[in-house]
Parts: sequence; C-alpha cells; structure tokens
Amino acid sequence: MTAVADRPKALVTAPFRGEGLDTLRDLADVVLDPWIDQQPLRLYDADQLAARIDAEDADVVIVETDSVKGPVLERPLLAIGSCRGDPNNVDVEAATARGIPVLRAPGRNADAVAELAVALLLAVNRGVVAADADVRAGEVYRDGTIPYQRFRARQLAGRTVGLVGLGAVGRAARWRFEGLGMRVIASDPYADDATHTLDDLLAEADAVSMHPMVTPETTGMIGAPQFERMKKGAVYLNTARAALHDTDALVAALQRGTIGGAGLDHFEGEHLPVEHPLVGMSNVVLTPHIGGATYDTEANHSKLIADGLAELLAGGKPDNLVNPEVLT
Ligand SMILES: NC(=O)c1ccc[n+]([C@@H]2O[C@H](COP(=O)([O-])OP(=O)(O)OC[C@H]3O[C@@H](n4cnc5c(N)ncnc54)[C@H](O)[C@@H]3O)[C@@H](O)[C@H]2O)c1
Repeated sequence: MTAVADRPKALVTAPFRGEGLDTLRDLADVVLDPWIDQQPLRLYDADQLAARIDAEDADVVIVETDSVKGPVLERPLLAIGSCRGDPNNVDVEAATARGIPVLRAPGRNADAVAELAVALLLAVNRGVVAADADVRAGEVYRDGTIPYQRFRARQLAGRTVGLVGLGAVGRAARWRFEGLGMRVIASDPYADDATHTLDDLLAEADAVSMHPMVTPETTGMIGAPQFERMKKGAVYLNTARAALHDTDALVAALQRGTIGGAGLDHFEGEHLPVEHPLVGMSNVVLTPHIGGATYDTEANHSKLIADGLAELLAGGKPDNLVNPEVLT
C-alpha cells in the first residue's frame, strides 16, 4: 500500500460530494474547502489560489470558479480539475505548456438545466407565478373576475416545442418535453439528428427553448426578425445565456403580443434592474441563473473529475482530459 507521504494531496475548492468524493479520498489526501460554503462569497484570484496551494502543499487542485492562471501554473501540479463543462477559469494553454493535465466535467448540469426549462415552460404556460401572487395578495377575485377567467391556458400535450441546440442540455430536455406529450423538433447545425432549420423551427414551435453555447455564431441569434417569425402566443425560454438574444427585441415582442410569454434564467451581467420592463410583465418568469444549481450537479462533476484523475494516475487517457497532448 502507498505510504501516506507518497499519496498526492488534493486541494478542492469546488463543492465535492458523493461517489466522486469517496474515489478522490481513495486516491489522495483531500483538503475540502468549497467556495459555496463561504459567506461572503470567496473566489480566489490566481495569486490567492497559488498561495493556498503553497500553504496546503497540494499536488492536485480541483476548482469550480477560482482562477487557475499565471502563478498557479508555476506550481508543480500533477493535475488540475475544473468542475465545469467549459474550463474557462483555467489557462489551458499555459497548463499544457507546463505539461499539466486539465480535467473538465462535461454535461454535469444537463439534467438540472433541462428540469428548469420544463419548470419555466409549465410556469409561464399556466401563469403559476402570477396566480401565486394573486393568492398571496388576497386577490383571488379581482375586478369582478374569478381566477378561472383570468388563467385559462392551452395544454402542452399535443403541442410542439422547438429546441435550439441539441447538446448535453438540449438532449436532456428532449425526452422530458416528450414526456409531457409534446412533439419535439430541433435545430442544431452540428447535430445529425436535428430536424429543422432555425427559421422553420421558429415558425412551427409553440414554445422555443434555447440551448446553444455562446459563440460568435450564436450571439444575438434571436433578434427582432426571429421573434417576428415565431407563432403568435409562442413561449420563449432561455435557460442558456442572455447573449443568445436581443433583450430589447424580446421586450418589444412581448409588449406587442407577438409572443405570449417568456421564461428566462439568465441576464446580461447576471442582473436585471428592478425597473427593467421584463420585471413588470406577469407573463414572464424570471430566475437568477439557477439552472445548474442542484446537489446532483455537484455529485456529477465530482464523479467525472475523480474518475478522470484515477484514470490519469493509472497511466490512462480519460475522455474528459482537455489537453491529451500533455501525455505524449
Ligand atoms: N442556466 C444554467 O445554470 C446553465 C447551466 C449549464 C449550462 N448552461 C448553458 O446551456 C447551454 C447549453 O449547454 P450544454 O452543456 O448543453 O452545451 P453543449 O456544448 O453540450 O451543447 C451546445 C450545443 O449547441 C449547438 N450549437 C452550436 N451552434 C449552434 C447554432 N447556431 N444553432 C443551434 N445549435 C448550435 C452545438 O452543436 C451543441 O450541440 C450553454 O449556453 C450553457 O452556457 C446554463
């Protein structure tokens, strides 16, 4: 058995749990100090993380949002784990130049985000948030109406949802919408099983759900002409990134009634001013970038990173290794 002194030491500043944490503890001595347990928020910049690595004498660092750049990469690290699909908090080029393997966690939050997309569609379609507000305000009967008059909706079963983007989240959303009895169509220029072009999808879908990554090609891909093309009364959902749409065009489409409602989990700058027109719209449901926020997401990334590290330490080449060239 390996002597404790020969075991790697892993500094983990990401939330880490479940089977992945057990695996990691089999492989290494673990210092677990997740950022998510800190109040106020603690995000290490590269100098702070380098100092913490020195203080712990760590050989492996596993992070979620801390900056793995500059001085961190001057440490003789065995491996870096970035608990994200896109390890954009790591200077991968510099890590590669220093021969340090970088692991990532693709698809860790796909189920979580897909569940929120379904939640937003149900909430927008049935006016759940506005109805809840009426109950809490003692306004079940308002302006001479009963709720049944104000909250009539169209059922989702038998209607069509259009998924824009068929990656990890889009695929996790597909079977869930099918489970609601919906017909699912999809547009993704890079997926063989996508069924529609974007234009055709927009014209056919009763609900449009956004799931592409932000790239130069997808930035602003839903603007005034695209909202105009959607079916009257369609619901627009964006659990991906606000950069995919033109927010002013979305507001105008909602104000004109071109579309029927929206469910949004992300805003430019991670914040929506309270005076923003979207805030006053009862047919819009707004959540603050919580799509991936489940304990299961953490268990998933823990398993992906720990299994990848086990394979690396055993001399293998894990699928989630970002820079396999360091092994050659
Ligand atoms: N709300 C949250 O908390 C949360 C959490 C995780 C991911 N996300 C976001 O969800 C989105 C999807 O994440 P993912 O993990 O499924 O990514 P992914 O890389 O697995 O999938 C992205 C998909 O977009 C497709 N795509 C690229 N260009 C396209 C285009 N022009 N039209 C249509 N599709 C296009 C790609 O082919 C790919 O299939 C990303 O924007 C991501 O940032 C949000």
